[in-house]
Amino acid sequence: MVAALDQNLLRQIDRNKLPRHIAIIMDGNGRWAKQRGFPRIFGHRSGVTAIREIVSACGELGVRVLTLFAFSTENWLRPPSEVRALMRLLERYLQRELPALQQNNVRLHAIGHVDQLPSSARRALRRAIAATADNAGLILILALNYGGRQEILDAVQRCLAKGAKAIDEQALSRSLDTAGLPDPDLLIRTSGEMRFSNFLLWQIAYTELYVTDTLWPDFRRVDLYRAILGYQRRERRFGGI
Ligand code: FPP
Repeated sequence: MVAALDQNLLRQIDRNKLPRHIAIIMDGNGRWAKQRGFPRIFGHRSGVTAIREIVSACGELGVRVLTLFAFSTENWLRPPSEVRALMRLLERYLQRELPALQQNNVRLHAIGHVDQLPSSARRALRRAIAATADNAGLILILALNYGGRQEILDAVQRCLAKGAKAIDEQALSRSLDTAGLPDPDLLIRTSGEMRFSNFLLWQIAYTELYVTDTLWPDFRRVDLYRAILGYQRRERRFGGI
């Protein structure tokens, strides 16, 4: 159900100028929980509700690709109990959400060193990716154990392994985890932090950045619509005049 304010904003969105690829740094889960006197994991759990809504909204709008920064290479530095809880949450999300992903025609994909995730999370991920492989709607990319610098290094290594003597932009782009997908048009970061946090460093060269103070667990359709409207008001020059 889309509420009246949401409907109003939704009507203002120009469907011919939608970002093809939206990337999101989902930040502020810990602060959201702390403000309510709950342990941090409550914030992550509530963050899953936001994920559910934004995946549906992007699918309904006709956005082609949505990339969510779910776990960075740096997130292993968090207390082991929080890392375990995040991995369990990921596994449960993949299991519980699979029917909804199917129903919404979402195709799941993952980037990052997923081979280093716990085996049960890896299994759930493999299963969900295989089950949704033929879906033709929104491409949902989960960045898991992902770091932008590492991805660039991996791409260079792949080029060298193929015997490349010189590497140009096209060759490097083709060797990234996101090969074949458009670069993000819009990068949303919640919780007001003005950082890229090692996310999609190569791909965001000309991406429009939208930062909101809203904490990720509170992020809803209306916030997504505001971000898209903000994006549509920008003039993208890609270095030209
Ligand atoms: C940042 O908030 C958020 C994360 C490190 C993890 C994001 C994970 C989820 C939204 C849920 C699990 C993901 C899936 C795909 C099921 P923070 O903890 O850094 O917040 P803080 O800056 O307020 O401490």
